[in-house]
Amino acid sequence: MKRLAILLSLLCSPVMLYASGSNVPLLKVKTDIGDMNSLQRGAKYFVNYCMGCHSLKYSSYGRIAKDLELQEDQVQKDLIVSWEREKRLSSYMTTAMTKKQSEVMLGKAPPDLSLIVKSKSTRWLYTFLKSFYSDPSGDYGVGNALYPTGMGMPHALVGLQGLQEAVFIEKCEGGELVVNAKTKKKECKGGNMASRFSHFKKKTIGPKGSMTASQYDLMVRDLVTFLEYVSEPAKLERQRIGVWVMLFMILFTAMAYLLKKEYWRDVH
Ligand code: HEC
Repeated sequence: MKRLAILLSLLCSPVMLYASGSNVPLLKVKTDIGDMNSLQRGAKYFVNYCMGCHSLKYSSYGRIAKDLELQEDQVQKDLIVSWEREKRLSSYMTTAMTKKQSEVMLGKAPPDLSLIVKSKSTRWLYTFLKSFYSDPSGDYGVGNALYPTGMGMPHALVGLQGLQEAVFIEKCEGGELVVNAKTKKKECKGGNMASRFSHFKKKTIGPKGSMTASQYDLMVRDLVTFLEYVSEPAKLERQRIGVWVMLFMILFTAMAYLLKKEYWRDVH
Protein backbone atom coordinates (compact mmCIF):
# COMPACT_ATOMS: atom_id res chain seq x y z
CA MET A 1 0.00 0.00 0.00
CA LYS A 2 2.81 2.34 0.94
CA ARG A 3 4.59 1.56 -2.32
CA LEU A 4 1.41 2.24 -4.27
CA ALA A 5 1.04 5.60 -2.51
CA ILE A 6 4.61 6.55 -3.39
CA LEU A 7 4.11 5.49 -6.99
CA LEU A 8 0.89 7.47 -7.25
CA SER A 9 2.43 10.59 -5.72
CA LEU A 10 5.33 10.32 -8.17
CA LEU A 11 2.99 9.94 -11.10
CA CYS A 12 0.90 12.92 -10.06
CA SER A 13 3.71 15.32 -9.20
CA PRO A 14 4.33 17.99 -11.83
CA VAL A 15 7.32 17.10 -13.97
CA MET A 16 9.52 19.75 -15.56
CA LEU A 17 10.75 18.70 -18.97
CA TYR A 18 14.05 20.03 -20.20
CA ALA A 19 15.45 20.14 -23.72
CA SER A 20 18.38 17.79 -24.01
CA GLY A 21 21.74 19.53 -23.98
CA SER A 22 20.39 22.74 -22.48
CA ASN A 23 18.84 23.90 -19.23
CA VAL A 24 15.80 25.41 -20.88
CA PRO A 25 12.50 24.08 -19.51
CA LEU A 26 10.13 23.14 -22.34
CA LEU A 27 7.09 25.40 -22.58
CA LYS A 28 3.62 23.97 -22.38
CA VAL A 29 1.38 24.31 -25.42
CA LYS A 30 -2.15 23.15 -26.10
CA THR A 31 -2.50 21.90 -29.65
CA ASP A 32 -5.61 20.40 -31.22
CA ILE A 33 -5.11 18.60 -34.52
CA GLY A 34 -8.89 18.33 -34.85
CA ASP A 35 -9.11 22.13 -35.18
CA MET A 36 -9.21 22.67 -38.96
CA ASN A 37 -8.79 26.45 -38.76
CA SER A 38 -5.63 26.11 -36.68
CA LEU A 39 -4.26 23.47 -39.09
CA GLN A 40 -5.05 25.58 -42.16
CA ARG A 41 -3.35 28.65 -40.69
CA GLY A 42 -0.38 26.50 -39.66
CA ALA A 43 -0.01 25.13 -43.20
CA LYS A 44 -0.03 28.65 -44.60
CA TYR A 45 2.62 29.83 -42.12
CA PHE A 46 4.77 26.81 -42.91
CA VAL A 47 4.63 27.45 -46.67
CA ASN A 48 5.34 31.16 -46.21
CA TYR A 49 8.10 31.03 -43.62
CA CYS A 50 9.74 27.60 -43.63
CA MET A 51 9.33 25.94 -47.01
CA GLY A 52 11.91 28.15 -48.68
CA CYS A 53 14.42 25.92 -46.91
CA HIS A 54 12.64 22.91 -45.36
CA SER A 55 10.63 20.26 -47.21
CA LEU A 56 7.85 17.90 -46.12
CA LYS A 57 8.77 15.21 -48.58
CA TYR A 58 6.20 12.61 -47.51
CA SER A 59 3.19 14.96 -47.74
CA SER A 60 1.41 15.69 -51.00
CA TYR A 61 -0.69 18.82 -51.49
CA GLY A 62 -3.62 16.56 -52.30
CA ARG A 63 -3.48 14.70 -48.99
CA ILE A 64 -3.12 17.97 -47.09
CA ALA A 65 -6.10 19.40 -49.00
CA LYS A 66 -8.25 16.37 -48.15
CA ASP A 67 -7.29 16.20 -44.47
CA LEU A 68 -7.47 19.96 -43.90
CA GLU A 69 -10.74 20.30 -45.82
CA LEU A 70 -9.30 22.72 -48.38
CA GLN A 71 -10.63 23.27 -51.91
CA GLU A 72 -8.32 22.72 -54.86
CA ASP A 73 -8.24 26.42 -55.80
CA GLN A 74 -7.45 27.35 -52.18
CA VAL A 75 -4.42 25.04 -52.30
CA GLN A 76 -3.27 26.61 -55.57
CA LYS A 77 -3.76 30.11 -54.17
CA ASP A 78 -2.55 29.70 -50.59
CA LEU A 79 -0.12 26.79 -50.44
CA ILE A 80 1.66 26.58 -53.77
CA VAL A 81 4.05 29.51 -54.15
CA SER A 82 3.68 31.58 -57.30
CA TRP A 83 6.92 30.46 -58.95
CA GLU A 84 5.98 26.79 -58.58
CA ARG A 85 2.59 26.93 -60.29
CA GLU A 86 3.43 23.82 -62.30
CA LYS A 87 3.00 21.84 -59.06
CA ARG A 88 -0.19 19.82 -58.82
CA LEU A 89 -2.18 18.26 -56.01
CA SER A 90 -0.21 15.06 -56.50
CA SER A 91 3.14 16.88 -55.99
CA TYR A 92 5.03 16.43 -52.76
CA MET A 93 5.88 19.45 -50.60
CA THR A 94 9.49 19.74 -51.60
CA THR A 95 11.49 22.94 -51.42
CA ALA A 96 12.71 24.76 -54.51
CA MET A 97 16.24 24.89 -53.08
CA THR A 98 18.49 22.04 -54.15
CA LYS A 99 20.77 20.32 -51.64
CA LYS A 100 23.82 21.80 -53.36
CA GLN A 101 22.43 25.36 -53.32
CA SER A 102 21.56 25.14 -49.64
CA GLU A 103 24.99 23.80 -48.77
CA VAL A 104 26.60 26.74 -50.56
CA MET A 105 24.22 29.34 -49.09
CA LEU A 106 23.63 27.96 -45.62
CA GLY A 107 26.63 25.69 -45.16
CA LYS A 108 24.27 22.83 -44.44
CA ALA A 109 21.17 21.35 -46.03
CA PRO A 110 18.13 22.17 -43.85
CA PRO A 111 16.61 18.88 -42.66
CA ASP A 112 13.22 17.64 -43.85
CA LEU A 113 10.67 18.44 -41.14
CA SER A 114 8.15 15.62 -41.76
CA LEU A 115 9.04 13.80 -38.57
CA ILE A 116 10.38 16.62 -36.42
CA VAL A 117 7.52 16.40 -33.90
CA LYS A 118 7.95 12.63 -33.62
CA SER A 119 11.71 12.85 -33.14
CA LYS A 120 11.62 15.81 -30.68
CA SER A 121 8.13 16.73 -29.43
CA THR A 122 5.41 19.32 -29.83
CA ARG A 123 6.63 21.15 -26.74
CA TRP A 124 10.23 21.11 -27.96
CA LEU A 125 9.28 22.64 -31.33
CA TYR A 126 7.10 25.29 -29.70
CA THR A 127 9.91 26.22 -27.32
CA PHE A 128 12.46 26.19 -30.17
CA LEU A 129 10.47 28.73 -32.22
CA LYS A 130 10.20 31.00 -29.17
CA SER A 131 13.85 30.74 -28.18
CA PHE A 132 15.75 32.75 -30.78
CA TYR A 133 17.66 35.71 -29.39
CA SER A 134 20.09 38.36 -30.55
CA ASP A 135 23.65 37.05 -30.66
CA PRO A 136 26.04 39.05 -32.84
CA SER A 137 28.56 36.20 -32.70
CA GLY A 138 26.02 33.68 -34.11
CA ASP A 139 25.95 32.70 -37.79
CA TYR A 140 22.98 34.94 -38.64
CA GLY A 141 23.22 37.36 -35.72
CA VAL A 142 20.99 35.07 -33.66
CA GLY A 143 21.33 32.18 -31.26
CA ASN A 144 18.77 29.69 -29.98
CA ALA A 145 18.55 28.85 -26.29
CA LEU A 146 17.91 25.18 -27.10
CA TYR A 147 21.25 25.02 -28.92
CA PRO A 148 23.80 26.38 -26.43
CA THR A 149 26.69 25.45 -28.71
CA GLY A 150 25.20 27.28 -31.67
CA MET A 151 23.05 26.33 -34.66
CA GLY A 152 22.97 27.32 -38.31
CA MET A 153 19.42 28.52 -38.84
CA PRO A 154 18.43 32.17 -39.18
CA HIS A 155 15.40 33.37 -37.18
CA ALA A 156 12.84 32.90 -39.96
CA LEU A 157 10.06 34.56 -37.90
CA VAL A 158 11.99 37.62 -36.74
CA GLY A 159 9.77 39.96 -38.77
CA LEU A 160 6.78 38.74 -36.76
CA GLN A 161 8.35 38.40 -33.32
CA GLY A 162 11.10 41.03 -33.30
CA LEU A 163 14.43 40.16 -31.74
CA GLN A 164 14.56 38.95 -28.16
CA GLU A 165 17.41 39.53 -25.75
CA ALA A 166 18.52 36.62 -23.60
CA VAL A 167 19.91 36.92 -20.09
CA PHE A 168 22.62 34.49 -19.05
CA ILE A 169 23.98 33.84 -15.59
CA GLU A 170 27.32 32.51 -14.51
CA LYS A 171 27.03 29.25 -12.63
CA CYS A 172 29.65 27.24 -10.82
CA GLU A 173 29.12 23.65 -11.92
CA GLY A 174 30.57 20.64 -10.16
CA GLY A 175 32.47 22.73 -7.63
CA GLU A 176 32.12 25.24 -4.84
CA LEU A 177 31.75 28.97 -5.37
CA VAL A 178 34.16 30.96 -3.24
CA VAL A 179 34.60 34.71 -3.17
CA ASN A 180 38.09 35.95 -2.57
CA ALA A 181 37.89 38.29 0.44
CA LYS A 182 40.52 40.68 -0.90
CA THR A 183 39.92 40.88 -4.64
CA LYS A 184 36.18 40.09 -4.39
CA LYS A 185 36.72 37.82 -7.37
CA LYS A 186 34.50 34.77 -7.67
CA GLU A 187 36.18 31.44 -8.07
CA CYS A 188 34.75 28.01 -8.79
CA LYS A 189 36.81 25.56 -6.76
CA GLY A 190 36.98 22.07 -8.24
CA GLY A 191 34.47 22.87 -11.00
CA ASN A 192 33.80 25.03 -14.04
CA MET A 193 32.28 28.47 -14.33
CA ALA A 194 29.64 28.10 -17.04
CA SER A 195 27.35 30.64 -18.62
CA ARG A 196 23.78 29.33 -18.48
CA PHE A 197 20.62 30.67 -20.10
CA SER A 198 18.32 32.28 -17.53
CA HIS A 199 15.40 34.02 -19.29
CA PHE A 200 14.37 36.35 -22.12
CA LYS A 201 13.84 40.06 -21.56
CA LYS A 202 10.23 41.12 -22.03
CA LYS A 203 11.09 43.88 -24.49
CA THR A 204 12.54 43.05 -27.90
CA ILE A 205 15.38 45.06 -29.38
CA GLY A 206 15.73 46.65 -32.82
CA PRO A 207 12.77 46.93 -35.21
CA LYS A 208 9.51 45.72 -33.65
CA GLY A 209 7.89 42.51 -34.87
CA SER A 210 4.57 42.87 -36.68
CA MET A 211 2.81 40.69 -34.07
CA THR A 212 2.21 41.19 -30.37
CA ALA A 213 3.66 38.57 -28.03
CA SER A 214 0.33 36.77 -27.67
CA GLN A 215 -0.36 36.84 -31.42
CA TYR A 216 3.09 35.36 -31.96
CA ASP A 217 2.37 32.57 -29.46
CA LEU A 218 -0.87 31.68 -31.25
CA MET A 219 0.87 31.73 -34.62
CA VAL A 220 3.62 29.41 -33.38
CA ARG A 221 0.98 27.14 -31.83
CA ASP A 222 -0.77 26.83 -35.23
CA LEU A 223 2.52 26.13 -36.98
CA VAL A 224 3.41 23.45 -34.43
CA THR A 225 -0.11 21.95 -34.68
CA PHE A 226 0.34 21.62 -38.44
CA LEU A 227 3.72 19.89 -38.05
CA GLU A 228 2.22 17.62 -35.39
CA TYR A 229 -0.44 16.56 -37.90
CA VAL A 230 2.20 16.12 -40.65
CA SER A 231 4.26 13.80 -38.46
CA GLU A 232 1.31 11.40 -38.25
CA PRO A 233 -1.49 12.24 -40.70
CA ALA A 234 -3.40 9.08 -39.75
CA LYS A 235 -3.82 10.40 -36.19
CA LEU A 236 -6.78 12.53 -37.25
CA GLU A 237 -8.56 9.49 -38.66
CA ARG A 238 -7.50 7.32 -35.71
CA GLN A 239 -9.00 9.73 -33.19
CA ARG A 240 -12.23 9.90 -35.19
CA ILE A 241 -12.55 6.11 -35.44
CA GLY A 242 -11.31 5.58 -31.87
CA VAL A 243 -14.49 6.95 -30.31
CA TRP A 244 -16.66 4.54 -32.34
CA VAL A 245 -14.39 1.62 -31.49
CA MET A 246 -14.73 2.40 -27.77
CA LEU A 247 -18.53 2.67 -28.06
CA PHE A 248 -18.63 -0.64 -29.94
CA MET A 249 -16.52 -2.32 -27.25
CA ILE A 250 -18.84 -1.12 -24.48
CA LEU A 251 -21.92 -2.28 -26.40
CA PHE A 252 -20.29 -5.60 -27.29
CA THR A 253 -19.30 -6.25 -23.67
CA ALA A 254 -22.86 -5.59 -22.53
CA MET A 255 -24.25 -7.95 -25.15
CA ALA A 256 -21.71 -10.67 -24.36
CA TYR A 257 -22.60 -10.39 -20.67
CA LEU A 258 -26.33 -10.72 -21.36
CA LEU A 259 -25.69 -13.67 -23.66
CA LYS A 260 -23.59 -15.40 -21.00
CA LYS A 261 -26.38 -14.89 -18.48
CA GLU A 262 -28.88 -16.38 -20.91
CA TYR A 263 -26.72 -19.50 -21.57
CA TRP A 264 -26.04 -20.23 -17.93
CA ARG A 265 -29.58 -19.66 -16.74
CA ASP A 266 -30.59 -23.32 -17.21
CA VAL A 267 -27.37 -24.70 -15.69
CA HIS A 268 -27.71 -23.01 -12.29
C1 HEC B 1 16.92 30.30 -44.57
C2 HEC B 1 16.65 28.90 -44.45
C3 HEC B 1 15.74 28.41 -43.32
C4 HEC B 1 14.44 28.80 -43.03
C5 HEC B 1 13.60 29.85 -43.75
C6 HEC B 1 14.01 27.99 -41.94
N1 HEC B 1 15.01 27.12 -41.55
FE1 HEC B 1 14.94 25.72 -40.10
N2 HEC B 1 16.87 25.22 -40.43
C7 HEC B 1 17.67 25.74 -41.42
C8 HEC B 1 18.99 25.12 -41.36
C9 HEC B 1 20.17 25.42 -42.26
C10 HEC B 1 18.95 24.20 -40.28
C11 HEC B 1 20.07 23.29 -39.76
C12 HEC B 1 20.81 24.03 -38.69
C13 HEC B 1 21.85 23.21 -37.99
O1 HEC B 1 21.69 22.00 -37.87
O2 HEC B 1 22.84 23.83 -37.56
C14 HEC B 1 17.60 24.29 -39.72
C15 HEC B 1 17.17 23.55 -38.63
C16 HEC B 1 15.87 23.54 -38.16
C17 HEC B 1 15.38 22.72 -37.07
C18 HEC B 1 16.22 21.74 -36.25
C19 HEC B 1 16.08 20.37 -36.82
C20 HEC B 1 16.84 19.33 -36.04
O3 HEC B 1 16.61 18.16 -36.35
O4 HEC B 1 17.64 19.67 -35.16
C21 HEC B 1 14.05 22.97 -36.94
C22 HEC B 1 13.08 22.35 -35.93
C23 HEC B 1 13.70 23.97 -37.91
N3 HEC B 1 14.80 24.30 -38.65
C24 HEC B 1 12.41 24.50 -38.06
C25 HEC B 1 12.10 25.53 -38.92
C26 HEC B 1 10.78 26.13 -39.01
C27 HEC B 1 9.55 25.68 -38.23
C28 HEC B 1 10.88 27.14 -39.93
C29 HEC B 1 9.78 28.09 -40.34
C30 HEC B 1 9.26 28.94 -39.31
C31 HEC B 1 12.26 27.17 -40.42
N4 HEC B 1 12.97 26.17 -39.78
C32 HEC B 1 12.74 28.06 -41.37
C33 HEC B 1 17.31 26.70 -42.35
C34 HEC B 1 16.09 27.36 -42.39
